[in-house]
Formats: sequence, structure tokens, C-alpha cells
Amino acid sequence: MVSRVIPVDPFDLVIFGATGDLSTGKILPGLYRRDADGQLPDAARIVGAARSPMDDEGFRTLVRAAIHAAIPEGRRDAEAVERFLTRLAYVAVDATGEGGWPELAAKMRPDVVQAYYFSVGPGLFGALAERLHAHGMNTEGCRIVVEKPFGHDLASARALNATLAAHFDEHQIYRIDHYLGKETVQNLMAVRFANMLFEPLWNAQYVDHIQITVAETVGVAGRGGYYDKSGAMRDMVQNHMMQLLCLIAMEPPYAFEPDAVRDEKLKVIRALDPVRPADIVRGQYRGANGKTGYHEDVEDPASRTESFIALKAHVSSWRWKGTAFYLRTGKRLRARTSEIAITFKDPPHSIFGEQEGHRANVLVIRLQPNEGIKLKVTIKEPGPGGMRLIEVPLDMSFAEALGPSAQEIPDAYERLIMDVIRGNQTLFMRGDEVEAAWAWTDPIIAAWEARGDRPQPYDPGSSGPEDALMLLHRDGRRWREIRP
Ligand code: BG6
Repeated sequence: MVSRVIPVDPFDLVIFGATGDLSTGKILPGLYRRDADGQLPDAARIVGAARSPMDDEGFRTLVRAAIHAAIPEGRRDAEAVERFLTRLAYVAVDATGEGGWPELAAKMRPDVVQAYYFSVGPGLFGALAERLHAHGMNTEGCRIVVEKPFGHDLASARALNATLAAHFDEHQIYRIDHYLGKETVQNLMAVRFANMLFEPLWNAQYVDHIQITVAETVGVAGRGGYYDKSGAMRDMVQNHMMQLLCLIAMEPPYAFEPDAVRDEKLKVIRALDPVRPADIVRGQYRGANGKTGYHEDVEDPASRTESFIALKAHVSSWRWKGTAFYLRTGKRLRARTSEIAITFKDPPHSIFGEQEGHRANVLVIRLQPNEGIKLKVTIKEPGPGGMRLIEVPLDMSFAEALGPSAQEIPDAYERLIMDVIRGNQTLFMRGDEVEAAWAWTDPIIAAWEARGDRPQPYDPGSSGPEDALMLLHRDGRRWREIRP
């Protein structure tokens, strides 16, 4: 029941940073899966570009190993892998010098879609954009794809936008936030805008509060250098969680079209109130049971960077005035789970008497793992014991509803790269959106830096620091449990 595969147009996709982790771990295995599924036309070609000298054969060997590492044997088809490898070529390119550029330019075919994936640090975006221009590769219809982190704050994001805008038009720039490529994240829009059921209740009058949780079990070991300069606020909240919040809070766009959707998301970000310091809890995981703590992982015993953050946000709009949006994300927590829970208000009057207590309807959109949607409703407990109420879930797990094909749901990157080739920017962030998100984030970070706040330690495998619980207790609410 997974949707039909419609082949995209023929393309030349150049991956800068082709030998790096993102390329070998996500992009190339994802492209292989699209190919194996029949979505790449015969004339689709992928050119790896990186600094190391290598020939086409060497690159194919590297990509074969990457596909083997990323995709379990049972899900790989040896013949399809070999066919995919014939699409690959490699050019050694010096991003900041002149080496390799004429060779790369000579490989690009004028009559197919041309896309350039900047799978490199943002420090190289400018150099790549300039050289693509200098060598005549920034043709009218070409696209560039850039990854997060898109800036470190508003000033650097503006500078990056200006660098790219010097050589590319906004309609050519695809800023990836891989959360927008997740199946259930898009389903959020389908649930809201393709059903009549929820939208009339989707406002401050009927919604009590909203919780967005992205919990991870991994620590930051291995990428401490990057992470320690970012922290959970910059790494997760400014982008992924902000996008989730936008999709929940936005008004219906006039069409499922790039600027219609992005205009509505931008309005949400601009309507976000500043967050009060009392409404933020930052945490840092300790070491325990032989596992290293945050300080060891980033090799800095004095680091004050947060690996956990919980905060209460408000969207000042007619629809949401007064509704609390609680956001929580962290590393080394009890389980890997991402979900959005919308808790509706109690009925105005209980005809069943007070002793039956409060049982709010909760709509839970589960992003990962076990993608699905669950609605908690109150019913009568079966049997002759009088009118006793119980809660039951109306549960739509994708795995159950869609059967084994749910396991074949494409990874976020696969979908997003195919959208690049199709020229559809709906699931990509526009420059003004990214800047607005930083404009909200910057003062929050500046305030805790000015106060010299230290994050609170929390135990690995827990739900974060105690104070995060208090953030909701204070409001007479409770976090949903973090469980697999
Ligand atoms: C990345 C962050 O953007 O998203 C990581 O930099 C984080 O720190 C990751 O682990 C989470 O993505 P996912 O798809 O595993 O939820």
C-alpha cells in the first residue's frame, strides 16, 4: 500500500563531500533504494566529488561498501546494487582551489536536471557557490541542496543566505531539514487538512496543551566537536522541533504548494513569543554504568552546553493565544522516541459525576519508531458494574494498517532528494524561515549565556533533569512518559 513509484526526470546529481558520513551513510544508500524501487530513470547519473584522488572504480567500491553497511543483506538486491554503481562517476575537486572544476563541468549534461548537493560544512558553501558560477555550472534550471547547520545564529544565517543568493535564486536553493521528509511529519498535514474531524477543534478553545518530544538514547560521542558548539537548542529546537511546531500551529495553506505552505509556517515562527527564562530547563547527561558522561564525550570538563532542553512556548495568534506548547529534546534519555501529543480540554461538565475524574482526549502522532497515530477516547467500561468510564486508544499503527509494506517507507532523505529532482520545494526551508527561527532562538541563548547558567546534570536513561518535570507540574500537567 506504499504509494506508486513515479520515475523522476533524468538528472545529473553532484555530491560534494561524497566520501563523508552523510553521503555514504544516508544519501548514496537512499539513492540506491530509489533506484532499486524503479524511481531513477535510465539516464540518471550521480557524480561524487571530494578532495581525495580516486577513479570511478575506486568510488564505486567505496559506495558498494557503504550500501552494504547501511542496508541489511535481506533488503539488498546484488544485481540492483551493481546496476546502481554503473550510474556513478567521480571527480577529485578542490573546493577552495581550482583543481578538478573543468573536469566536473565537462561531465554535466545540459539537457537533464542538474543538482548539486553541498554535503560539506557551511564554511565551504560560499567557495562551492562561487566556483559553480565561475565554471558556468549555475545554469538557470540547476538546484543546490544545503544541509543544516544553516548558521549558528541570525547573523551567520543571514551571511550564508547572502552568500548563496550571490549566485543562486531562492527557487534554486533547497535547505534540508530531514524531519520534513519523515513520513509521519507529512502525515500531520494530511491529518489536519484532509479530514474535517480535527480542524474545528484545533485551537486554544479546545486544546489544553501540546507536547513535542524528541528523545534519543545516543550521546554525542564522535561528534562532540560540532555538538559542543551547538547544544540541543541549536541542534534540534531551532530547526527540527520548530518545523514540527509550525506544522501543528499553522493555518491551512491555500494549497499544498511550496510558498503557500512556507508562508504559513513563517507566520507561526514570527508569532512565537519570547521564552521566559523560568520556562526553560537545560540539562547535561552524567556518566554512569561504564558509559561516559557529556563532559568526557566532548573532552571539556567545563562545558556548559546542554544535551537536553525543555521549554514552554506560546504562539500569539487568534488560534493559539493561551495554549502552551511544551518542547523537550535530549540525548541519552530513557528511549528513542519522537512524538507530538495534543491534549484536548475536559468536557465543560461531567454528567457522570466528579468521581469519574478527568480523562482528556489525547491525539498522539508518533514520528518514530512505530510510526502511527493514536487517539485516546473515554468509553464505558464493559459489564454490568454501572457507568464506569475507562480510556481506550483508537490506534492506527502504520505497521498494522499497511502491513509489511510499512517497513518499506522511504527514509526522509530519499523522499527529499527525489523532491529536489522534481523541483518541489514544499518540504524545504526558505531563507526567511531559517532567519526567523534564529531571530526567536538568539535572545533565548543570549540570556542564558549572559547569566552564565549551567545545565543541570541528569542520569543517563532517565527522562532528563527533575526541573523539566516541574515545568509541567507547575501548570498542573504532566509530561507523557518517554518509552520505546
Ligand atoms: C540531527 C541532529 O539533525 O538529527 C542529531 O544533528 C540528531 O543530533 C538527529 O541525533 C536526529 O535525527 P533522527 O532522524 O534520528 O531523529
